Amino acid sequence: HLNVTHYLRQHIRTVPNWPAPGVQFRDITPLLQNPKVFRVLIDAFVQRYMDPALRPDVVAGLDARGFILGSVVAYELGLGFVPIRKKGKLPFTTVEETYELEYGSATVELHADAVQPGDRVLLIDDLIATGGTMMAGKKLLEKLGASVMEGAAIVDLPELGGSARLRASGLPLFTLVDFG
Ligand code: PRP
Ligand code: HPA
Repeated sequence: HLNVTHYLRQHIRTVPNWPAPGVQFRDITPLLQNPKVFRVLIDAFVQRYMDPALRPDVVAGLDARGFILGSVVAYELGLGFVPIRKKGKLPFTTVEETYELEYGSATVELHADAVQPGDRVLLIDDLIATGGTMMAGKKLLEKLGASVMEGAAIVDLPELGGSARLRASGLPLFTLVDFG
């Protein structure tokens, strides 16, 4: 038996003072680099969403680290994958959502035909900090008439309040490792 949370936590690298003084950056790249750890990571999501009660219609991933996880999870589940991208990257008609960052704002986009009304979408990213990115992704999918059945991430930083805000908005969340 393997405690997945404990195992994954040991393979997340904390980089002090990056990208700014005082920030403890939780770096997930070591999880991807080690093939055994990568498999444990992906299987944790696949096992959950292969349950018929929790199986989505489509997987959406958030730019950029959500693409790495989301596409592999979608492939393993036999589902399609749609990218939610930072503004200016998607070539076809898009819907867009702007949200506030600590300094300034960010805009994300989704192709207008990426999901169908009524689709139940699994929304994946690597990490939830303020929750702004995942909330913007949820709003984009809802603009197209889809619903987000769950948000999933490797890491939650609960002290920033993002996961609590997302849950308060009615979004169920599944995360594997907390860093307080
Ligand atoms: C990071 C992270 C999440 C988001 C979390 O992405 O990968 O997408 O920030 O922060 P939030 O909960 O406060 O919105 P970043 O913007 O650094 O982009 P990247 O994945 O392209 O590096
Ligand atoms: N790690 C990775 N991405 C992030 C972090 C972090 O600590 N904080 C905000 N985005």
